[in-house]
Amino acid sequence: MSKVVFLSGAGVSQESGLKTFRDMDGLWEEYDVMDVCTPEAWERNPVLVNEFYNQRRKQLINCKPNKAHELIAELEKWFEVSVITQNVDNLHEKAGSTNVLHLHGELTKARSTVDENYIIDLKEWELKLSDKCPKGAQLRPHIVWFGKAVPAFDEAIEIVNNADILVVIGTSLNVYPAAGLVNYIKEKCKVYVIDPETPKVTSANVEYIAEKATIGMNKLTKILLKTYIN
Ligand code: OAD
Repeated sequence: MSKVVFLSGAGVSQESGLKTFRDMDGLWEEYDVMDVCTPEAWERNPVLVNEFYNQRRKQLINCKPNKAHELIAELEKWFEVSVITQNVDNLHEKAGSTNVLHLHGELTKARSTVDENYIIDLKEWELKLSDKCPKGAQLRPHIVWFGKAVPAFDEAIEIVNNADILVVIGTSLNVYPAAGLVNYIKEKCKVYVIDPETPKVTSANVEYIAEKATIGMNKLTKILLKTYIN
């Protein structure tokens, strides 16, 4: 079975009603990333940071995966599929993808501020500033703050390095180290980029599908089945 790896970003969830970050009307137009997504912001104003992620979590309850998430999951019938996502939503999992690596954390989880191994599933959307870990320390959103190391990065490199096909979907490739993953492909790895505003990927084998995620995934699914499955 060929190995297909998706590197996804906010654009894949845009048609599910979630805002991207850097598009016009994106989240970083409304908020300053430095106020809600850094260790300093959490120290300075945990109420604001916690509320920002509570609102994102609340909004997620009513969000459904779109056709792009669904087609990515469906490809598991024919390919060995891995999803490496920068997204903190759970729409890939909701669509049925079984192999999802979150680079930037997960909205539906909280973590201890003193014990890095203590990560729990949240049962409801609201994380309260009175919620504590068993060691008595404050729980915080399970988000990789800007400027901090990405713990899943080494695992992601290995996955990308083994890909026969890499699909970059719905990401501006502005944020490192995630954006650098495209540099770890094997020489003969085929690359597809699905994005209405195609970001630059330098590879001899790159093909651009300049569409929104749902239309782009429809096209890509046909291409993959025709090219790789008899
Ligand atoms: P961006 O907002 O930077 O980029 C979104 C990309 O999606 C752009 O290239 C858009 O052209 C594209 N796009 C918009 N609508 C689309 C659609 N319907 N279908 C397909 N593509 C579409 O988001 P990311 O690249 O995901 O980090 O941002 C990376 C990281 O920056 C995020 O994980 C987040 C943010 O700060 C953290 O929160 C830690």
